[in-house]
Amino acid sequence: MTTNPISQPGFSEHRSPVRGSVTPHKSGLVPVRSNGNNGTAKLTLKNLSLTYKANGSSRLLALDGIDLKVKPGEFLCIVGPSGCGKSTLLHVIAGLQQPTAGHVLVDDNLMDGPGTDRILIFQELGLFPWLTVSENVEFGMKMKGIARAERQEKVQYYLRLVHLAQFKDSYIHQLSGGMRQRVALARALATEPDVLLMDEPFAALDAQTRDLLHDELERIWAETGRTIVFVTHNVREAVRLGDRVALFTFRPGRIKREYKVDLPRPRHLEDVTVAKSAREILDDLREEINKSLEAEYAGEVLKR
Ligand SMILES: Nc1ncnc2c1ncn2[C@@H]1O[C@H](COP(=O)(O)OP(=O)(O)OP(=O)(O)O)[C@@H](O)[C@H]1O
Ligand SMILES: [Mg+2]
Repeated sequence: MTTNPISQPGFSEHRSPVRGSVTPHKSGLVPVRSNGNNGTAKLTLKNLSLTYKANGSSRLLALDGIDLKVKPGEFLCIVGPSGCGKSTLLHVIAGLQQPTAGHVLVDDNLMDGPGTDRILIFQELGLFPWLTVSENVEFGMKMKGIARAERQEKVQYYLRLVHLAQFKDSYIHQLSGGMRQRVALARALATEPDVLLMDEPFAALDAQTRDLLHDELERIWAETGRTIVFVTHNVREAVRLGDRVALFTFRPGRIKREYKVDLPRPRHLEDVTVAKSAREILDDLREEINKSLEAEYAGEVLKR
């Protein structure tokens, strides 16, 4: 198991997913392209496309030719306007949806369905209200066929990791939103997936709880060495957490640009450097948001 060198000086240098002739911007962002990266990849997306059947006979191209490589232990954030295909992409990586074209590979092995090597944490969390915190965390391991003694050991370990050991016998309705997020995180981590997929996990939380969970997620990532793909609307959050940020275009979802975040850790949402980097990405994102608004407006006009 690799340990992320989270607070080592110069760690962004040797964690660089792609090193070329690019020079860092003053903001701490370095534009990169990962699809030509020859290094080892934990996760590889090859020319991934997905078309949905929309109403009647019409079709909607949600993802279009996504090429992406994620290094082992890398924290990749994905940002993009609403409806650009971020959740669709996570579903495809998790094997919950089949792509129309292209492939998902983990450690160079072709994936063709769900597996415990890739776990998706939905925004709705999917916790079971009739189970206690411990039982919720144990659930995924039961499904995986792990023996009882080992399950209980792991439940203890992961509940301690997310600081919820004292609440092991509580039911979900007895927990705050942030605590529920931590249960979902513990449950996902307990199955020890190689790749953790997170779809806007902190969007519904208040600012303080979110800050706390950023710190905790970063710590857990450092301790467990997991590879994380994290979708968010919040560009600052992406810069706060990510080694790299991939910006998606409005429909169809393509990768518009990728940025390596060349800022030391730990970072904070309020850091000036984080704000500066976020502003740079936001300018880029705004173009795509405008396109989405124009498309919506055109639809409204057509309906009149
Ligand atoms: N099951 C489905 N059937 C048909 N179209 C779908 C389906 N799920 C999603 N879509 C369409 O695919 C596009 C991408 O949806 P997706 O949920 O992946 O976007 P998103 O980037 O996650 O958006 P948000 O930021 O709002 O969560 C949207 O236009 C959506 O309407
Ligand atoms: Mg979504």
